[in-house]
Amino acid sequence: MSQFRQQDNLLGQSDSFLAVLDQVSQLASLDKPVLIIGERGTGKELIAARLHFLSKRWEQNYIKLNCAALNENLLESELFGHESGAFTGASKRHEGRFERANSGTLFLDELANTSAMVQEKLLRVIEYGEFERVGGKQTVKVDTRLVCATNEDLPYLAEQGEFRSDLLDRLAFDVITLPPLRERQEDIMLLAEQFAMNMARDLDWQLFSGFTRSAMEILQGYDWPGNIRELKNVVERSLYRHGNEHIPVHQIILDPFESRFRPKQRIKKPITKTAEAPPIPAATEEPIVATTRTQFQFPCSLKALSNEFEIDLIKKALEFSQFNQKKTAEVLGLTYHQLRGYLKKYNLLDQQ
Ligand SMILES: Nc1ncnc2c1ncn2[C@@H]1O[C@H](COP(=O)(O)OP(=O)(O)OP(=O)(O)O)[C@@H](O)[C@H]1O
Ligand SMILES: [Mg+2]
Repeated sequence: MSQFRQQDNLLGQSDSFLAVLDQVSQLASLDKPVLIIGERGTGKELIAARLHFLSKRWEQNYIKLNCAALNENLLESELFGHESGAFTGASKRHEGRFERANSGTLFLDELANTSAMVQEKLLRVIEYGEFERVGGKQTVKVDTRLVCATNEDLPYLAEQGEFRSDLLDRLAFDVITLPPLRERQEDIMLLAEQFAMNMARDLDWQLFSGFTRSAMEILQGYDWPGNIRELKNVVERSLYRHGNEHIPVHQIILDPFESRFRPKQRIKKPITKTAEAPPIPAATEEPIVATTRTQFQFPCSLKALSNEFEIDLIKKALEFSQFNQKKTAEVLGLTYHQLRGYLKKYNLLDQQ
């Protein structure tokens, strides 16, 4: 099978998507930084690669790094490299991603949560193309084109003081905002058919008999919060569960967790708590106040109980704010960025 299958290409013919492709073609030839913004699964990574491969740098390195996957120190040394002996375990000089992408393109994914220190170094490398490796004094010069992506609201984070405004100005020479799939109605079936044909091939089917009308209506009527990635998963899952190449697919499995045996959602409560929390108030503008008094048994773990309390409170605040994260942050007296930190820490992002 060819290494470059159809599914690796960017598909779409809606006006909003074609406008993005035009913008990408225009921007590709410039050496300026580009920021790609879009909901999860909208194709940010594919667009970043396209920017590189349409640019004059296409024969040079295209290097990617997911900033959210590393802590501050690791990220710094991954980006800028380190000298031998810079820290325990640094036995050899390590070339950072900026150097490896010299003359090429560096794609920084999930950039929003980088620390102030990393942001400061990024600012300098964008402005002057230079930096020092961790533990080094020598200034390294590079000619690396930067493409960044995020699904966070960076201008809002900058307003809140959570992201450097001067860095944002420089990163955002131009911004490509990817439309969510629900705004690309005419692309849904085009993508679905393509994903289905690729899946049929993976299943060793000789043919794909299409979708029934009601299946198409479900695909076109759904909101697609996970966008194209979700559509791809749904189509592939529906095909393999359908399991028959001769009959059109009639059942669309949007939610793989759906089952009458699915365990009910349990919100963890402190085991030793004796008083039940009162029911959540309806969504009014009244502030949430802590009204429960609990009795504890000792010994107990302060950390574990505090964590449980935080999770409980955040879940209630989310419900109270009808899952609007900005409002939730507000009613908890947190910045949006801080709330996102908690949601990540407690793995609450997917449950909303
Ligand atoms: N226009 C498109 N045509 C075909 N496939 C696409 C298109 N856009 C995205 N995809 C597919 O959808 C999936 C998600 O794309 P990608 O990883 O680029 O999204 P993302 O915006 O980076 O997501 P996340 O925010 O979750 O990192 C991939 O499998 C990709 O191949
Ligand atoms: Mg991505």
